[in-house]
Amino acid sequence: MTVSANVTAFGDADRVIIFDTTLRDGEQSPGASMNLEEKLRVAEALEAMGVDVIEAGFPVASTGDFEAVKAIAERSSGASVICGLSRATKGDIARCAEAVKPAQRQRIHTFISTSPLHMQYKLQLPPEEVLKRVGESVAYARSLVEDVEWSAEDGSRTEFDFLCRCVEAAIAAGASTINIPDTVGYAVPEEYAAMIKGVMETVPNADKAIFSVHCHNDLGLATANSLAAVKAGARQVECTINGLGERAGNAAMEEIVMAIRTRHDSVPFVTGIKTEHITKVSRMISAITGFPIQPNKAVVGANAFAHESGIHQDGMLKHAGTYEIMTPESVGLTKSTLVLGKHSGRAAFRQKLAELGYGDLGDNAVNDAFTRFKDLADMKKEVFDEDISAIIDETAMRGHDRIKLVSLEVKCGTVFRPPHAVMELEIDGQTASKDATGDGPVDAIFKAVRALVPHETVLELYQVHAVTKGTDAQAEVTVRLREAGKSVNGQGSDTDTMVASAKAYIHALNKLLVKRERQIPGGIAV
Ligand code: KIV
Ligand code: ZN
Repeated sequence: MTVSANVTAFGDADRVIIFDTTLRDGEQSPGASMNLEEKLRVAEALEAMGVDVIEAGFPVASTGDFEAVKAIAERSSGASVICGLSRATKGDIARCAEAVKPAQRQRIHTFISTSPLHMQYKLQLPPEEVLKRVGESVAYARSLVEDVEWSAEDGSRTEFDFLCRCVEAAIAAGASTINIPDTVGYAVPEEYAAMIKGVMETVPNADKAIFSVHCHNDLGLATANSLAAVKAGARQVECTINGLGERAGNAAMEEIVMAIRTRHDSVPFVTGIKTEHITKVSRMISAITGFPIQPNKAVVGANAFAHESGIHQDGMLKHAGTYEIMTPESVGLTKSTLVLGKHSGRAAFRQKLAELGYGDLGDNAVNDAFTRFKDLADMKKEVFDEDISAIIDETAMRGHDRIKLVSLEVKCGTVFRPPHAVMELEIDGQTASKDATGDGPVDAIFKAVRALVPHETVLELYQVHAVTKGTDAQAEVTVRLREAGKSVNGQGSDTDTMVASAKAYIHALNKLLVKRERQIPGGIAV
């Protein structure tokens, strides 16, 4: 018997459903947490790019998670299904249903571990009890919403016969999507594909569900495993922007989508993703989470379309196809063009924003960004598209910050020892200033912040990268702070690396304050 994939809700057997979990699995990566406003921006961008299902969060995890999923559900246009994750308990499922309720199209995604290792050590439950809970949890979720997805956590390490029994029970109880995750990134493509195909062929009611895959990247095989599974019959791929996610991350959406588009001869399927949105959304996620994109990252890395060697440049001049398998335009990459100068007006600036995909910004955001652009143009000879994107991302992130940088003066070098920082902050509307010295200028700046806003955190990461080339480039700084077992990343950009460092630290601190306010005792994650 050969497997033919079940026809998706799109009525087309070749259509692959893109299920984005940047806001759930992606946000679970240490330091990648996002606040409500940031999550709303991301959800809006995902919906605009054509994502079929947005996993907006894990509502029972914390009040913040619940509120975020609910707010995303309220704002969604109906273009994407809004999904929440829940464990296999009534409490989790009920909370999840409440959070996704405002969405026009709602889904509950409930999961339980099915591998021997997870059942014995994590759940401490016998297989028969797990099987019973599969049916009960899905049936309960179905009593609350129409669209229920069931996942076999650690599915790729589950005994085949037991997996088939669980899948059959989930479908019988009403699940219309069955996800078989490679939770620990252990699978290899042929084996994983054979497993998906085997389950689809063996389970008697398999034709009543869409099969989905969710691959982690521990061995760098997440994209390969996902594509192999699609060829074997899966029609939903769970993925994240930039491959964000637990440990080594999840399958990267941009890789899945561009592989399907570019290698249609070998992977003959389609997705509904508007690929021209990829670069903008990728940069947005990087700016919000503070996770820089490695330069050689497939599809979205800064070097993904750069040709350095003479031989390659020569080939490119003769025919772009010599070294480019997809066009930069197909992923929304505009040439690094020089934009406006300090004499440019607001209308030209707005037009540039529209070209870069920020045409929907409100007047206040445009005005703030324009002021920052003018300041930048005063300091920097050449302003590039990347500079404008950095300004927009930073302006959008700073809306409701409780702590704001008012001024900073730093003295350092061979003469001024020890390095010295004088900083003025606005904290909940009140200004305060402080002098501090440190081992280096950055240390002095961070000590000044700590003196003005006393807090006990561990600095886990301090990282600088240049937005564009040249010594007058804007520095983009990432700071990761850890408190009570949770990490937050902050980002700041400025032509002055010290100012960017102060902004990044303050951004992280603002996120920490939001996190503290939202944390509920007994919450399982924040
Ligand atoms: O990796 C995993 O198994 C998951 C499930 C909750 C779907 O994230
Ligand atoms: Zn996962």
